[in-house]
Amino acid sequence: MNAKRSVGTTITEHILTQQRTNPEATGAFTTLLNELIVAAKVISREVNKAGLTDILGDTGRINVQNERVQKLDLFANQVIIQRMRHVGQLWCMASEEDPDLIEIPAEYPRGNYILVFDPLDGSSNIDVNVSIGTIFGVYRRPEDSHTNEVLLNDVLQPGVEQVAAGYFIYGSSTIMVYTTGSGTGVHGFTLFPSVGEFLLSHENIRIPEQGKTYSVNEGNYAYWDERTRGLIDYFKTPDKETSRPYTSRYVGSLVADFHRNLLKGGIFMYPADLKDPKKPTGKLRLMVEANPLAMVVEEAGGYASDGNGPILQIEPATLHQRVPLFIGSRKDVQLAEDVISGRRVL
Ligand code: AHG
Ligand code: MN
Ligand code: MN
Repeated sequence: MNAKRSVGTTITEHILTQQRTNPEATGAFTTLLNELIVAAKVISREVNKAGLTDILGDTGRINVQNERVQKLDLFANQVIIQRMRHVGQLWCMASEEDPDLIEIPAEYPRGNYILVFDPLDGSSNIDVNVSIGTIFGVYRRPEDSHTNEVLLNDVLQPGVEQVAAGYFIYGSSTIMVYTTGSGTGVHGFTLFPSVGEFLLSHENIRIPEQGKTYSVNEGNYAYWDERTRGLIDYFKTPDKETSRPYTSRYVGSLVADFHRNLLKGGIFMYPADLKDPKKPTGKLRLMVEANPLAMVVEEAGGYASDGNGPILQIEPATLHQRVPLFIGSRKDVQLAEDVISGRRVL
């Protein structure tokens, strides 16, 4: 029997076969990605038995995001940091859970990649057995960084500079979706516990140009401005010609809502709201959530906007800056941007 058919295509094999068209398909990058995959397998195992061990609930700590830290947030954060710091391919790391950059300890060699990540996305869903995930983006150390010192500016790069991005979703199965951009496509791999490998399951994912689903937390309606309310009302208003009303789907885990829309089409929105004066630009983080998913969705033919322009073009000012996020099927997101920016009146 053909071995390939019996086992399928692993990520390493997939990257290396892409070697010709994939500028990032170097041994260094493959090593980095493989180590991240080991971290995800460890997190997936913990998530899948979370109900059986004392890993549920919160730590009683409040993080830099001013959010309660769940035990699994911390566990996932530590697993990724411990696995990745010895790989020898990283200049530094940045995590949603850490206020400052994470330096590579002196005993380990450093490399030229920068890893930014949300170790566990959808924390509010951990205890209720709803899909959660890990989001990551990879940058190169800037060419003009000549000091031996790791600087915040090395990391504050616009999303368009990412050389790879993706996510793991810990749900009914554990799936990894990633891209290295430049036309190499978006590919999904499913973890086969019996083999212990992620095997290619969704080759060259393309998001439908227009969807029939909108995802937003309508509980924030009272805190939105008129344009935002008008946009959400638009998706809910019956109109045969434009296949409305759309279906509403909102899981509360960005990776789960994003993954469904990536495969089936649709728009996810986390608009700016006036609910928390400390977060006037919405809840989601540019570096560790919006940028990585924006790279994935645009490589799959979709679009990601902050309501005025492309997420990937935003020059980050701070490490944990939040942005309004409209992401998914190109036509739906473009409409959202036209309405939120005032260029179009519904
Ligand atoms: P995280 O768990 O990493 O803090 O992210 C949670 C985010 C995102 O996953 C989700 O889309 C959003 O929070 C849900 O926020 P609301 O509960 O305010 O809708
Ligand atoms: Mn998150
Ligand atoms: Mn998180």
